Amino acid sequence: MSLQSMLSGVFEEAFVALGTDSTFGEVVVSQRPELADYQCNGALGAGNALGRNPRVIAEAVVASIDAPDLIESIEIAGPGFINIVVSPRALIGAIADMAGSERLGVQPVDKPLTVVVDYGGPNMSKALHVGHLRSAVIGESLKRLVRFRGHTITGDIHIGDWGMPVGQLIIELEDRQPALPYFKPEYDEAIDGPYPADSPVDLDDLSDMYPVITKRCADDPAVAARARVATFDLQNGRAGYLALWRHFRNVSVEGQRSDFDALDVEFDVWYGESTVHDRLAPIVERLLESGQARVSEGAVVIDVARQEDAKEVPPLLLTRSDGSYLYSTTDLATVEMRVQNMHADVMLYVVDARQGLHFEQVFRAAKNTGIAPDDVDLEHIAFGTVNGPDGKPFKTREGGVVRLGDLIELVTESARAKLDAAHIAEGYPQAEREEIARKVGLAALKFGDLSNHRTSNYTFDMDRFAAFEGKTGPYLQYSAVRIKSILRRAAEAGLSEGPVVAPTVDAERVLMLRLVRLPEMVDRAVSLRAPNVIAEYAYEIATDFSRFYEKCHILSEEDPRRQASWLALVGLALAVLDRLLDLLGIEIPDRM
Ligand code: ARG
Repeated sequence: MSLQSMLSGVFEEAFVALGTDSTFGEVVVSQRPELADYQCNGALGAGNALGRNPRVIAEAVVASIDAPDLIESIEIAGPGFINIVVSPRALIGAIADMAGSERLGVQPVDKPLTVVVDYGGPNMSKALHVGHLRSAVIGESLKRLVRFRGHTITGDIHIGDWGMPVGQLIIELEDRQPALPYFKPEYDEAIDGPYPADSPVDLDDLSDMYPVITKRCADDPAVAARARVATFDLQNGRAGYLALWRHFRNVSVEGQRSDFDALDVEFDVWYGESTVHDRLAPIVERLLESGQARVSEGAVVIDVARQEDAKEVPPLLLTRSDGSYLYSTTDLATVEMRVQNMHADVMLYVVDARQGLHFEQVFRAAKNTGIAPDDVDLEHIAFGTVNGPDGKPFKTREGGVVRLGDLIELVTESARAKLDAAHIAEGYPQAEREEIARKVGLAALKFGDLSNHRTSNYTFDMDRFAAFEGKTGPYLQYSAVRIKSILRRAAEAGLSEGPVVAPTVDAERVLMLRLVRLPEMVDRAVSLRAPNVIAEYAYEIATDFSRFYEKCHILSEEDPRRQASWLALVGLALAVLDRLLDLLGIEIPDRM
């Protein structure tokens, strides 16, 4: 159990003994570290509830507490805050518990949930660009966090592979290469042989075609109508279109996989909208029959508006008037699939905040129809935009979207320059330097993103992100690498870790107190779905470590017990930092 929860336990008991609610006993980290390590503010609430003076309650609580092993001193401040200083013995115990456990003292949850995280979500045929960055980076971190907390989590990329964009690409290709067999309605594989095994297009072709055809559809209703028919025909099993669709999907997945690999983002399943195709017709039929859906101007819709809505929430569209299915239909069916086949208790949708209304509609429809049972939790994990220096969404100098591959190249380049300027990894073999630059570049990119709360927009500032000073990914990597080298030098000097003894230096105690907060930090990041909690905490560990190292001259320390204890603390700091960076999806080079 963490130090903080042990303290809470003691205070909860004291509040219960006073005849109040145990929740008043919650102990939190002190707001004033110069006065105390932890504090309990429950006397104020309890005073309110009982109609008594909070200070009197605080005094009664303090008087009843007898936990000398845990608590060094208690003081009441102001109207009834209780300030707590923990005992050296408790601190050492907590550090030893952490150091001795593979999970660093983070207990797995009692009741693991089955969670699906839906992230990445590129549309088929699209080369990844900066717009896919946040979903991938935030989703990957949440997946790791939720998993570390002890839940079962599946990361699903949910490719957009069954909607109108596919119909659009089909007709665009038809206009470019009308002679291909996929477009001949009379083509029969039994007679004419199978469709060609090689794709007529690659991902670059598709990416080029996509903006062209979306513009054509917007400009010309006749083209748009053809795209709708093609979408309908595909969804209804037209063989040539399906064969073509398979090519589109394969080349897309291949290209996208290599981009996600380059980002160290890894999906457990590569499902897509098409995965739930067989569920679409039965769902629509069933909901029409039960009266939960209705026909409106030829389309099928589900009403999801509520009396209390401040803004209008339009009905969710299940089919267009031509019978084709939409983004909303596949999302609703995907909820059903995740409930029935994946047994999901929680679904996290890591998607741009601008899709808020869509998810509101889908979630309401899923709940109203019972497709998502009451105890299933559906959450839109919204995030803001990546802006350029002009405060507008990040673009290339020419105003185009920035490809993810180019972005990774850009950050790697920037990392190389920073390594040179700081004389880091100088004289290393070329291949190793390159690998370091790659890791540093990715750390700059990811930490630059994850250190902001996900709902804020942020400005993409490579120069700042890649710096080795300040709150950056490279600074944290460098700190971790420095710790590794301290441990290496100690080992070379024949020194080894020993039991942790009571802290004698202020900076040492501060570091210990920081490290033992790990379980609460993980818990907080998971419950808020907020990786920035981890980013912030990792930065605090690194700066506390640096102060500790400045004050405690480990290698020249004369007291061997102290020295061995410090080394143990160094080892633990590295393990914690390593874990935190891993939770953010950031790798640490062996040396720099
Ligand atoms: N493909 C969608 C897009 O490009 C994102 C998918 C998000 N996930 C979902 N289940 N709708 O906007």
